[in-house]
Amino acid sequence: MRNHSKTFVFVGLILLFSFSFIIPQKEGSNELGAFEYDDFETPEFCKSCHNQFYQQWSQAMMSKAYTHHWDEIEYFKLAVAHSKADPEMADAHKGCNGCHTPMAFLAGDVPPPRPKEERRANEAVSCEVCHLIKGIAGDTAYNHNFIMKPGHTKYSSRKGEKESPDHKIVPIDLHSDTRLCGSCHNEKSPFGVWVKSTQLEWQNGPYSDEGVTCQECHMPDTKMKTAKMGTTYPDARMHLFNGAHDKGKVRGTIEVRIQPDIRETVPGEVVVLTATLFNQKTGHKFPTGSVEDRIVWLHVEAEDEKGNTYHIPVDKKGFEGEQYTIASDDLAYQDMGIPLGIEDFKGIKREDVPMGDRIFRMPFFDPQGRMTIMQWNTASLGVDYRIGPRETKTETYTFNLPYEIEPGKVKITASLYYRLLVKPVGEYLDVPAEEYEKLLVNQHSTEITVYP
Ligand code: HEC
Ligand code: HEC
Ligand code: HEC
Ligand code: HEC
Ligand code: HEC
Repeated sequence: MRNHSKTFVFVGLILLFSFSFIIPQKEGSNELGAFEYDDFETPEFCKSCHNQFYQQWSQAMMSKAYTHHWDEIEYFKLAVAHSKADPEMADAHKGCNGCHTPMAFLAGDVPPPRPKEERRANEAVSCEVCHLIKGIAGDTAYNHNFIMKPGHTKYSSRKGEKESPDHKIVPIDLHSDTRLCGSCHNEKSPFGVWVKSTQLEWQNGPYSDEGVTCQECHMPDTKMKTAKMGTTYPDARMHLFNGAHDKGKVRGTIEVRIQPDIRETVPGEVVVLTATLFNQKTGHKFPTGSVEDRIVWLHVEAEDEKGNTYHIPVDKKGFEGEQYTIASDDLAYQDMGIPLGIEDFKGIKREDVPMGDRIFRMPFFDPQGRMTIMQWNTASLGVDYRIGPRETKTETYTFNLPYEIEPGKVKITASLYYRLLVKPVGEYLDVPAEEYEKLLVNQHSTEITVYP
């Protein structure tokens, strides 16, 4: 009897042992609740050996993708509230975490605690998020379809010359590929509309043919050590990731030139000005990413010798949907009424831009056809009047010289402005003003002479 039970235990142990080999190890996943927070190291842990990269990353927006004020406002005031208000939108807020704080999503911690609770969701797009990605599910990268495999192995494009005392390194091509970025920088709304398509824009633009990847412009390489005790490489990839929140990156993105058709004229006559805008800097369209929020506009103004100014509105071109590309005092964003619990919400001003100025944007429409900033509630897109990579757009301005204009030199200036977020929305939702500050992208002036 005693012997029997011993054999039993023995056989049992053998079975258990072999099972642990038969049961496949998790090969990686991107599903809600697939892992736990403890499966991931903190960025502070990586910092001990990769301090420079840590310091760069910690001042980039991806380290703040969950804690940043406007993200918190839109997530809780609009997305989470929308999920509660409309049963058909019950899942709308979950996907946000898949890109903004993937660890929370993978840990099934949805919605995560508010940023002020200082929990692990605050780590946002951390070191581990990118360096545990081992593949993309499917051909097109979008909606956080990366395959994540937590553990001792870190994935990157370089097989380090030195071994790391902490982890294994498996080199994979994905980290020098734009699809890694595309898994979060392309997004399809629940209505099947591409509401974010930075990587797809890049794919269809001139830079993909030339092999100029996202990494080339957002992670420039230089000579440095990639780890404290590591090798000095001539082409170490810096983790700057500066984009639309870096004024210096945005400034000069578009070159602006303007010229008149005649140089000498008299009051009452007409001068036609042509403005040229050349996108020399971005690898995707400008603006890209959060297109529903961003606004770029060209303002043309004449100034006579007495300092009187005359605003010159853009000439219409007559394309479909053009009304969304010329500043007006229309109201929009009525769908915010749903999450905010306001019945028959009249909406707020579509933009705060001088009437008649040309706007370079692509409007997003809700299921009722009204303009929206809630990209998850986007059922269709309007005309895409953004400036593509290396694209040149021209605009004309017909200036009817007023009779009261002061004879002498008249200076005409074209100024291209940018805001991260349309101002009326920022003000209405109490977003800190820095998020809708007006930035001058570029400016150019020309001159005409007016005779009495
Ligand atoms: C105890 C020190 C140490 C810690 C902690 C550490 N690493 Fe490393 N890591 C290294 C060293 C050393 C290398 C090899 C550098 C070389 O190639 O010269 C390396 C290489 C890498 C590489 C490959 C690229 C390359 O240049 O070889 C990646 C990616 C990486 N580490 C990510 C991480 C992440 C993410 C963390 C935090 C979870 C982390 N490391 C924590 C020491 C460390
Ligand atoms: C796990 C998802 C994820 C991946 C992978 C990812 N990003 Fe991001 N990225 C984000 C999110 C979310 C934001 C928005 C941050 C915020 O809230 O403003 C962002 C913002 C940015 C910004 C904008 C910064 C700004 O100033 O507005 C740049 C640039 C950027 N990412 C570049 C990259 C590049 C290059 C790659 C590939 C090497 C990449 N990202 C991969 C999620 C990701
Ligand atoms: C040729 C250089 C270049 C390449 C290639 C490039 N970018 Fe950019 N990117 C820029 C510049 C310049 C800006 C700043 C102007 C702006 O906001 O668009 C920028 C801005 C951004 C922003 C913020 C945009 C916004 O309007 O909020 C994101 C996000 C971004 N890039 C991601 C990417 C990703 C992902 C890729 C690859 C698919 C990529 N970039 C490829 C130059 C580049
Ligand atoms: C948004 C994704 C992303 C995040 C976040 C990120 N990395 Fe990276 N990292 C990359 C990519 C992509 C590369 C490789 C770029 C290439 O070779 O084109 C890389 C390369 C590296 C390398 C090797 C550098 C080289 O030149 O070979 C190390 C080390 C590294 N990362 C550590 C870190 C650490 C530490 C953090 C957090 C502080 C971090 N990474 C955060 C995407 C990321
Ligand atoms: C597929 C990945 C993905 C999903 C899903 C996603 N986002 Fe984002 N989000 C991003 C990226 C990438 C950016 C940065 C784009 C840029 O810089 O223009 C961003 C930018 C933002 C911004 C603007 C940040 C800024 O600083 O200007 C807000 C706010 C935001 N997201 C909120 C949300 C909310 C709320 C949801 C869910 C309803 C959501 N996002 C879903 C990837 C995603």
